[in-house]
Amino acid sequence: MGKHGVDILNLDVDKLIQMLNEALAEEWLAYYQYWIGSRVLEGPMRTDIEQELQVHADQELNHAVMVADRIDQLGGTPVLSPADWMKLSKCKYAAPEDPYIEVILDQNLDAERCAIKRYQEIADFTYGKDHTTYKMATTILEEELEHEQEIEDWMADIDIMKENLKKLRM
Ligand SMILES: [Fe+2]
Ligand SMILES: [Fe+2]
Repeated sequence: MGKHGVDILNLDVDKLIQMLNEALAEEWLAYYQYWIGSRVLEGPMRTDIEQELQVHADQELNHAVMVADRIDQLGGTPVLSPADWMKLSKCKYAAPEDPYIEVILDQNLDAERCAIKRYQEIADFTYGKDHTTYKMATTILEEELEHEQEIEDWMADIDIMKENLKKLRM
């Protein structure tokens, strides 16, 4: 974006770039969390959920592209080193040390809820001031909400499956 485009934004652009860089670090960590989680996964419904987690991973990576491009347009520098991801991220990276599917889904759910908070915050900060970032934030927010919903649905399905198994044993 040209200098004029940045000048007319009625907000603290440095603060916005900082928030976007935190979001960018979070997207990369979320991407990796899904990417590695889908590969170590064990337990019920594994084959179906494994593929879905890979779809989520791709979507997080696409969010990273959108956020990095916007930082660039605003005249900022997207975080340059993976070593800074953990420092910038406000969302916890939870290594999937326990590969059991419910544990992994729980970790992913936490990350999604953190992402939802992040894009809500960016949307609030840019509302009525920076329409482009606002639009991007709400587009990403919608996908994070879908991710959260899908994970909750899988967790509910696993619960039903466990209940049914219990009944069979009785
Ligand atoms: Fe994301
Ligand atoms: Fe997500």
